[in-house]
Order: sequence, then C-alpha cells, then structure tokens
Amino acid sequence: MLKKNEIITLEIQSAAFEGKSIARHEGLVVFVEGAVPEDVVKVRLTKIKKSYAEARVVIVEKPSPLRVEPRCKYFGVCGGCKWQQVDYQSQLRFKQQQVVDAFERIGGFSNIQVPSIIGADEIYFYRGKMEYSFAEKEWLVEKPLSIVDGRLSNEKNESPIFLGLHVPQRYDKVLDIDECHLQSHFSNKILNFTRDFARRNHLNVYDSDRNTGYLRFLVIRESKKKKEVMVNLVTFEDRPDVMKQYAAELKAHVGEVTTVVNTMNAKKAQIAFGETEMVYLGNGWIHEHLGSHHFSISASSFFQTNVAQAEKLYGVVKELGEFKSTDCVYDLYSGTGSIALFISDAVKEVVGIESVESAIRDAEKNAQENGITNCRFLLGDLKERLTKDTEWMSSHPKPDVLIIDPPRNGMHPKVVEEIVAIAPQRIVYVSCNPATQARDVKLLCAEKYQLMKLQPVDMFPHTFHIENVALLHRR
Ligand SMILES: C[S@@+](CC[C@H](N)C(=O)[O-])C[C@H]1O[C@@H](n2cnc3c(N)ncnc32)[C@H](O)[C@@H]1O
Repeated sequence: MLKKNEIITLEIQSAAFEGKSIARHEGLVVFVEGAVPEDVVKVRLTKIKKSYAEARVVIVEKPSPLRVEPRCKYFGVCGGCKWQQVDYQSQLRFKQQQVVDAFERIGGFSNIQVPSIIGADEIYFYRGKMEYSFAEKEWLVEKPLSIVDGRLSNEKNESPIFLGLHVPQRYDKVLDIDECHLQSHFSNKILNFTRDFARRNHLNVYDSDRNTGYLRFLVIRESKKKKEVMVNLVTFEDRPDVMKQYAAELKAHVGEVTTVVNTMNAKKAQIAFGETEMVYLGNGWIHEHLGSHHFSISASSFFQTNVAQAEKLYGVVKELGEFKSTDCVYDLYSGTGSIALFISDAVKEVVGIESVESAIRDAEKNAQENGITNCRFLLGDLKERLTKDTEWMSSHPKPDVLIIDPPRNGMHPKVVEEIVAIAPQRIVYVSCNPATQARDVKLLCAEKYQLMKLQPVDMFPHTFHIENVALLHRR
C-alpha cells in the first residue's frame, strides 16, 4: 500500500493533460508534476486515490533525452511554460497525442486520425498580450528582498508592491518577475518601470478583502505587425494625477509605447477588465493585421494572443469549412469578429453572435474599416439567443455552416441541443480545450453529425494549451 509523502522511483511513460506526465507503479497510474516522458525520477506522492495517484518530482535520476535547458530563470515556479524543458518537436507530439486521447477517452471515438499539429515558427516572444497582477505579498524564490537586479528594494516601502504572475492556485501572492520570454523585450522594461513607479510614488495595491487600495493589473498589448504598444493600468479607482505622471514617465522611459489607458474596476472580482476607461496617451487603440484584414483592438477587446498562429488557425477554418459563395455562416462566440471577417470573402453572409458588448462594437468597427458589408454582429448570450429567443432566431436567416469558438469550458448542453435543431450542413468547431470539445462533439455526433476531420494548431509553445479544429458534417 502506497502512502502519502512516500518517495518512490518511477519511469515516466507519456505526457498527460495540463503539463503533467504519466507513470505506472504496480499497475496504478501516477500523474507526475515536473517530469518529462522517458525520465527516471524519484517522486513524493502527494495524493493517493483508488484508481490513480499524484506525485511531484524530488530528483531526476536519469534525465530524458527529450529534455532541453529551459530559457527562463523562473521555470518550474511560474506555472506558465510547463513544457519549456522539453524540445519543441516533442512538445508538438505530446499535444497531438492529447487530442487523440481526448477524442478517444472523452469523445468515445475509435481509431482517431489526427494530422500533424501545425507548429509555430516563433516559439518565444510570440504573445501579443501579457497580463500582470499587483500583490502585497510575494511568492518567494530564493532571492533576497533587498536590491534585486538594480530594482528598488521592497524593504524601504511602507506599502509592499509586487508585480508579476500568479503562481498556480495562489491568488494572494505573485511571482515578482523581471522578465518573461513570451512577449517582446520592451515588455519587460514596461513591467519593471511600472513596479518602480508604484514603489517610488508609494502607491498601494488593491485588497479585495478590505475593498480598498489602488493598483490591480498591468496589461501590455503589442501589435506584432504594426509595432504599436498599449499599456493598460487597471486600478480600483480614478486618480488622474497619478495616471498623467505615469503615462508621461513611461513614454519617456519606453519609447515603443504608443497608447496608455487606465481602466477602473471597483468590483471585487479579480479580473483585468474595467467598468470605465480613460486614455492618457495616444488614442486607446492598437491595430493588427490578420491575413489581408486589419483590426482595431481596444483595451477590453478579446483578440488572438498569437497572431502568427491565428493566421494559420483561421486558414484551417477556411479550408475545412469548404465555404461556397451562397453560404450563410453563423460565427458563434465571435469575439471581435476576426474569424467572421477572415472568411467573409468566401461566403454570402456571416452572422456573428457574442455576449460582450465592446467586442461587438470592435467587430462592427473592424468590418467597416475593412470595407466588409456582408458581416453582421449580434449581441447576446448564446444560452438565451439560441435556446429561448425563438422570435430572434426566426428573424435571422438559417445558417448553412456554423463556426463555433467557445471559451475553455465549451458549450452549454442547451446550446448543443439547439444547434442540432438548427441542423446546419457543416460545423467547424474551434476549441482551446480538446477535452470539452470532445465532450460537445460526442453530443453532436450522437444526434445528427459525423466527425470528418481534426486539425490541431499550436498557439502557445511551451505551455500545455492546445487549439484544435474539428469538422463535422450532417449525416
Ligand atoms: C475563444 S473566444 C473566441 C473569439 C473569436 N472567435 C476570435 O477568434 O476572436 C470566446 C468568445 O466567446 C464569448 N462568449 C463567452 N460566453 C458566451 C456566451 N454564453 N454567449 C456568447 N458569447 C460568449 C467571449 O466573450 C469570447 O469573445
């Protein structure tokens, strides 16, 4: 009988979901944190259940040939790039296998054929958006609190201020980082300047327990093709003097910054969205190109984080959709309309449906700026629109093809039911979570549909995130 905290030796067999690896101990599946397939490791057991156990690596006894030296000094502490210690081709193989596993185990499909995952040409500095959190408590990683790389020491401050990334499952503390390799180099300058500015000016951090304080998030957005940079400081309240000084000093320090926005969020929920927005430098927008279209992105818009890979992803959508010039297409969960606009020249019309009002506004603006007249964007929660609002549905054309791109938790079962009732000929389902996608596709295939093709795309090198496109035909 295995016991919690016991140390055992394991040979790692394969990669599992969420950056964990799988090994077996006397027939029991063990999910291991911090290992790589083909490693031999000593692990400490952290959880023991009837059908599986969980463990964390204590020491790597024989490193896997798939291992490479991670580039980031915070690797292993920051939860972001869990596969950075694995060579990129192996990362791609793991992700492809996980799509197969999801569709076989969760979807109940057999003999799933998944073509090679479409990899990224740029595996670092690919992100167009980074979101950093302010906190009063630091997640400590063997580093003194006094002078850190020439930055101001926290010891001299009455109000402690740390700025960085949340470590998994710790929302009160941040890993106070001074560099991240996922966004351009100047992004690190913005991060470090902002922390120093906050400390120098004795600003304080928002505390959700007491519902007081000022600083909440720093969001940096960069357009890779247009070379524009938006800095959005998300705060609890409005302090125009602070923001004016911040915007002026930041621009002087980091010349690449083209616009500075302050979004204010007085709600307790810790999300980097704001209720009100003020612009302190530039015009509050950045612009990006996807294919032949350009997009205007505001501080609160959703936009694909890896533009180079988004172009490949949308290319897959266009190819699998086999669109005809007579097709009416619905783009469900349409965000800022980037997929709708991308395919608009191949179809008769596109109707985008999305629940965030600002995203709808951006989508309309994007269509107008691109001279596209066959796309309409409708505001609404799909749970309401598709399932309850029959008048609304009957006043719009029936779709020949559906594109679906829901958030990570997939579709509400009622939305799936209604899609089956609407019965479009083809469905192109884009997902950032193959597990919920496999669940939804199973439901669709139990009724009227047949799974025709799958095509994963790697949008986020070094992370465990997988984007996958599924094509379904009506039977
Ligand atoms: C993964 S994003 C897809 C965005 C878009 N397809 C794109 O590529 O830019 C999911 C979108 O679904 C929207 N959303 C989430 N739940 C929704 C719901 N119940 N009804 C309508 N839209 C929803 C979110 O606001 C978000 O814009």
